[in-house]
Amino acid sequence: MLIELVDARDEAVFAEWFGVMRAAELATRPGEPGILLHEELALAREGQAADPDNRWLLLLLRDGNARPIGAAKLSLPMRDNLHLAELELAVHPDARRRGVGRSMAVEVEQRLREQGRTTVMAYVDEPPAEQGRSAGRAFAAATGYALAQTEVCRDLDLPINPRRAAELEQACAPYARDFEIRTWCDGCPDDLIGDRALLEQRMSTDVPLGEIDLQEEKWDGDRYRRVERRNARMGRMFFSAGAVHGPSGRLVAVTDMSVPNSEPERGYQWVTIVLEEHRGHRLGTLVKLAALQALASGSPRTKDIRTWNAEENTPMIAVNEALGARTNGLAPCFQKVLEG
Ligand SMILES: CC(C)(COP(=O)(O)OP(=O)(O)OC[C@H]1O[C@@H](n2cnc3c(N)ncnc32)[C@H](O)[C@@H]1OP(=O)(O)O)[C@@H](O)C(=O)NCCC(=O)NCCS
Repeated sequence: MLIELVDARDEAVFAEWFGVMRAAELATRPGEPGILLHEELALAREGQAADPDNRWLLLLLRDGNARPIGAAKLSLPMRDNLHLAELELAVHPDARRRGVGRSMAVEVEQRLREQGRTTVMAYVDEPPAEQGRSAGRAFAAATGYALAQTEVCRDLDLPINPRRAAELEQACAPYARDFEIRTWCDGCPDDLIGDRALLEQRMSTDVPLGEIDLQEEKWDGDRYRRVERRNARMGRMFFSAGAVHGPSGRLVAVTDMSVPNSEPERGYQWVTIVLEEHRGHRLGTLVKLAALQALASGSPRTKDIRTWNAEENTPMIAVNEALGARTNGLAPCFQKVLEG
């Protein structure tokens, strides 16, 4: 078995790497949309550019006939969290239980040591039928990873019932008289960009993290704009809403939903955060309602929005369930500290 590094400038090899990832994804959730080739290619090229915010290392394992059967992606934060790496590892469904995953895991750890990383984390997607007993969970245990946190996957069918939306908005509005709800698509308005970046930074530590060894990220307007440009290259539309606190003029809450331009049926919830000092004003529900409204008019073909929340994140789950989201499996996060 040969393991090679993939250079995303080589589109043919990248497509082979992606083919393994996508085959594994389809085996877990048959028939579902997932990450798209052109999206992943855009992100990979960004992650292999000269000075990325997150450096990507891609590994491809071939069998004796040069067929690609194992793929791994290591995402290394470059501005903060220099001890950390996030791993995605997949083995083609036709090549499982032959030690391919284990060989990849050994190579991954060696590469991480070379990069000076000491902690590696990986999420496993468990659809309802595999909850608590997926191959990924067993593999994580067999390769020395410990459960660090459990996220729950939920889908929200669209459009949401207009009566439910109106009732929720009416119930929430009295709590939020000091706040103005603003919506935007794709780019954050210039007057909010500094606060938007700060919210991203707070997002890295204000959400429940369980045992995940994540330190506060460093964000400023320039980094946030780079992410927006990257998202545009990925070919996604973004629908966002935020709450501006009247007395201070600061953006104190935000939510972002993203939809692939080319396959808009499935949308994805990205960040939602309300600054701790402004919680209790129903801002989480109000910004989500506003973003959903923007999404309904800007992307009428979107049929559902997928979201993940830590199982202990009671306030966020309450908001999502009030909107009508239903559970659809788990995403346990496993973590390993590498020995020197
Ligand atoms: C998890 C995955 C990578 C395992 O790949 P693999 O090549 O089949 O794994 P290996 O053959 O190296 O298995 C190593 C050990 O993991 C455990 N394991 C792997 N698959 C298992 C399964 N389906 N049931 C029980 N244990 C399993 C076993 O202990 C196995 O050792 P053994 O075969 O000697 O008993 C593969 O099933 C996959 O791609 N799943 C979808 C993506 C995923 O969950 N990735 C992991 C997290 S990023």
